[in-house]
Formats: sequence, structure tokens, C-alpha cells
Amino acid sequence: MPVPADNPLTPERVALGRKLFLDPILSADRSISCASCHDPERSFTDNRPKSVGVSQRVGPRRVPKLLNRGYGRSFFWDGRIRTLEEQVLQPVTNTLEMDLGLAEAVERLRAEAAYASGFRKAFGRQPNQDDLARALASYVRTILSGDSRYDRYVAGDPEALDPTERLGLEVFRTKGNCVTCHLGPNLTDERFHNTGIGFRDGRIDDDGRFTVTGREQDRGAFKTPTLRNVAETAPYMHDGSIETLEDVIDDYDEGGTANPYLDHEMTKLGLTESEKAALAAFLKALSGPVREGFQP
Ligand code: HEC
Ligand code: HEC
Repeated sequence: MPVPADNPLTPERVALGRKLFLDPILSADRSISCASCHDPERSFTDNRPKSVGVSQRVGPRRVPKLLNRGYGRSFFWDGRIRTLEEQVLQPVTNTLEMDLGLAEAVERLRAEAAYASGFRKAFGRQPNQDDLARALASYVRTILSGDSRYDRYVAGDPEALDPTERLGLEVFRTKGNCVTCHLGPNLTDERFHNTGIGFRDGRIDDDGRFTVTGREQDRGAFKTPTLRNVAETAPYMHDGSIETLEDVIDDYDEGGTANPYLDHEMTKLGLTESEKAALAAFLKALSGPVREGFQP
């Protein structure tokens, strides 16, 4: 996993980042932590269609799961951020999320003996904004999922998937065209596509990648999410608009919602009922234990 030269992964940094991740101290009214939205018990998402921050403020998008994000090439659904160090301070100041100024965040941490000593151990100095980002980013890098039955099948155990799931994998790779975008160890190309989500009556309420690039063809395009542990992370898509994997598959089978910016890889699939069922069974075999914290 790529790690910035000025932020090596150490047990002290990860432990400090973990403590911060779970602590509501980083929200304005001390009511929510990172984990309130990225729940460690739910593959680090919250199973809600839209995020809910301080004072029950509802955000515009769904909380993404945080699995294997250390391998990510950009962050947020629209990829507007390049590094995890830059990413992790955004929710702190976001008025719809934790709504806390960074100066105040640092002041609060300096006032707590446990943090004063935690920062000293991890960075050799008192709490400050850059080290806060480094600690949180270090912890996020340790959140991993990689031991699903699918992984064991790929590693050479043919019995790890049952015949239905193997048919599903075949559909995933061929007729379903899923691997065009969901590929590699993380089942994502880390790129942006308009798959028709969020279009209603020819209109869209979230321009997605367009807001970053300004390119017309990026309107309504969002980052391909990893499919790891996807069976546990309903509802789906950047707006939480699809409730079940079966409905996701029906949507792809229809070729997605037609719109002027639809990715050219989105076409009607003509899957049979048994192919759809097999594909759903395969997606459910992508779940594995989630590890977090420092692993030597
Ligand atoms: C109020 C709910 C909420 C809280 C609290 C919150 N997040 Fe998030 N997080 C989100 C949402 C929503 C997104 C996606 C936003 C977008 O794409 O515009 C996100 C995105 C992310 C991403 C990018 C994931 C990816 O795949 O692109 C990371 C990393 C992350 N959050 C880490 C954190 C950390 C660390 C904290 C605590 C400092 C935190 N979050 C607190 C809701 C929350
Ligand atoms: C053109 C690229 C592309 C193709 C082809 C594609 N996907 Fe996706 N997939 C995406 C993108 C992009 C998203 C997120 C869309 C959004 O939220 O607006 C997504 C989201 C998903 C999600 C929801 C994950 C989550 O956490 O919300 C599932 C499940 C999924 N795809 C499965 C499939 C399956 C199964 C196939 C094949 C039938 C497939 N995808 C084909 C790009 C693609």
C-alpha cells in the first residue's frame, strides 16, 4: 500500500488515529465521531441513504464504506481530494457533518492529557492540525477487507464458491460486463462513470465528477465503489437510492437510466432470472472479515 514518505505507518500513529476516529471530541457539540457515520460494525458505513451529521443535519450523499481506502487514488464520490491526509480533515469542518473549526479541534486536543501524551508518543510534539490529519489517515489505511470466499477461489480453491456463485462470477465477467468497471483486487477501476443513478425525469440533482473537472461528459459521473462486503452495506449508490442487490442487478439489466451522459458501457444485458440470481449470490460471496488497527 502506498504511504506518504512523511507519514510512515507506526503503531503509535494508528492507535492515536483509532482513538480520534471513535471520539466525538471532533464534532461541534461533541455528539458524533467519525464512527457514527463510518460504523466499524457495518463495514464502516451506516446503512442510511444519506449521511446525518451534528444536529441531525442531512448531507447530500450516502456514507461510503471505508474498506481498503489506502489503495484509493482519489477520495469522495466525485474524487475531489487526492490524498487521505487531506481527506480526513474535511468531515471535521463540514457544516453538515462535524462542523468544528480546526483551530478549536487542536485546542480541545491540547487540553486533554491523554491526547497530549498520545501525540507526543506518535509525533514527538503537542497536538496540531497536520499531525491530526496524519494520525487519522494512518488509522484509515489499516481498515482492510481481503479474505472473502471469492479471494480464496481466486487463490486456487475451486470449492470456495458453490456452483451458483461460480455461474454468478461468470456472468460478472462476461454477459454482465461488470468487470469493465469493477476490476482488480478491490473490484473498482477507481474511475468515474455515469451509470444513470440520480437521474429523474431527465434531470439530475448532483453533478458528481463534473463539479471537479467542469467537463460536460462528467456530469452525473461518480467513482466506482469497491464491491467488497457489499452484501452488508445497503442501501446502494451515491444517493442511497437502491435498496437491495437484486434491484441493483435489475437496474444494470435495464442498461441504467437513460440520460445524455450515460457511460457507453451501460447497455441492456438481457440476463435470465437464473443469471440474475447467480450474480446476486456471487456479490454476496464478496464479504469477508474486516480488520482494523496496526498489523505488524
Ligand atoms: C456525518 C457523517 C460523516 C462523518 C461524521 C464522517 N464522515 Fe467520512 N464521509 C461521509 C460522507 C457522506 C462521505 C462521502 C462524501 C462525498 O462523497 O461528498 C465520506 C467520505 C469519507 C472518505 C472517503 C472515502 C472514499 O472512498 O472516497 C473517508 C476516507 C472518510 N469519509 C473518513 C472520515 C473520517 C476520518 C472521519 C472523522 C474525522 C469522517 N469520515 C467523518 C460521512 C461522514
Ligand atoms: C460503466 C461502469 C460500471 C459498470 C459496467 C458496472 N458498474 Fe457497478 N458501479 C459503477 C459506479 C460508477 C457505481 C456508483 C454509481 C453511483 O453511485 O452513482 C457503481 C455501483 C455499484 C454497486 C453499488 C455499490 C455501493 O456500495 O453502493 C453495485 C452493487 C454494483 N455497482 C454492481 C455492479 C454489477 C453487478 C455490475 C454488472 C452487472 C456493474 N456494477 C457494472 C460502475 C459500473
